[in-house]
Amino acid sequence: MTSTRGLEGVVATESSISSIIDDTLTYVGYNIDDLAENASFEEVIYLLWHKRLPKKDELTELKKQLSDNMALPQEIINHFKTYPIDKVHPMAALRSAVSLLGLYDDLSEDMSDEANYQKAIKLQAKIATVVTTFSRVRKGLDPVEPRADLGYAANFLYMLSGKEPEEIEIEAFDKALVLHADHELNASTFTARVCVATLSDMYSGVTAAIGALKGPLHGGANEQVMKMLSEIGSEENAEAYIKEKLANKEKIMGFGHRVYRKGDPRAKHLREMSKQLTKLRGEEKWYNMSIRVEAAFTAEKPLPPNVDFYSASVYHSLGIDHDLFTPIFAVSRVSGWIAHILEQYANNRLIRPRADYVGPGMQKYVPINER
Ligand code: CMC
Repeated sequence: MTSTRGLEGVVATESSISSIIDDTLTYVGYNIDDLAENASFEEVIYLLWHKRLPKKDELTELKKQLSDNMALPQEIINHFKTYPIDKVHPMAALRSAVSLLGLYDDLSEDMSDEANYQKAIKLQAKIATVVTTFSRVRKGLDPVEPRADLGYAANFLYMLSGKEPEEIEIEAFDKALVLHADHELNASTFTARVCVATLSDMYSGVTAAIGALKGPLHGGANEQVMKMLSEIGSEENAEAYIKEKLANKEKIMGFGHRVYRKGDPRAKHLREMSKQLTKLRGEEKWYNMSIRVEAAFTAEKPLPPNVDFYSASVYHSLGIDHDLFTPIFAVSRVSGWIAHILEQYANNRLIRPRADYVGPGMQKYVPINER
């Protein structure tokens, strides 16, 4: 038996949800560039779950189902109030809250297709409210109820700030959700599939996936990018900062990818959004600094920016707290996790690879007082 470090290049399943071929990303055969320009996040959710774009009435119905299910059980809000609020990272709160949501859903253990679809709607709807409500509770603010007349992206921004968002903010946030929705067999999606392939329930699969997304090599990178930009502080410092980090053999967050070689097709959309939004806010320094970091880094290493690099300055420009960047990734990616969970259930086989054992050979047990 030979092992492949990090399962690089290993094809672990068949899937008809998204593909990365020759650095082109598609959702169900639609190029991400096409979807980013034209589709709403709700259309993408429908696409991922049903493998086709919705008709008008189907989209209306999905939007209604989502807004009808956004409210959280009061127990979850009460639970947030018991957290050691200064120490809890919102991703840890999200991981715990999604697990708790399963306790308050009568359908949790029902594995029928109908129940799984109901759970999919509830999870997608409530994850937005979990993130926004936790953010408000930790600031001592009252939660903001979702509004039936707002779409998913607008509702998220509204529940976060309590103010009706501007059209340009809604458009940018919606596009960011579209761009993050699915990404073939990334670490968190694989985690979700491994979990539910034991025939565990959807809440377990999504909770496990959140845990995997949290790490800085995956979704956690976007928060780290903003931390880096804040440390750099001004455009002139970018080159020296990057040189020093690389000289110390440190990784620069937001660059590199296991699958893409020429570049991450999502990054160019976020770069453009960053340019526009930072200008709108009169805070071009974050975009300019990002450009300088990209130039300094790629001059040393031929690794283009990934989805996390420019999303940092985009979310910052939307006035979002930096430690909510990764939870927002989860708010979008849960649509992909659910699609993969449903696909796994539909044609399940336990996922159980082998390990190439490299430890000691056979040993004989030695009683404790003879060691
Ligand atoms: N900065 C500096 N060097 C890097 C970076 C980076 N961001 N990424 C890769 N390298 C180097 C790495 O040090 C290694 O060099 P050497 O062969 O000399 O040891 C080589 O490139 C290969 O790197 P690797 O870590 O073995 O590559 P991987 O395919 O296992 O990891 C990655 C991919 C995305 C984890 C990695 O590029 C990385 O750590 N990037 C920074 C974190 C990041 O931005 N993560 C977000 C990924 S995309 C969106 C998402 O999934 O959330």
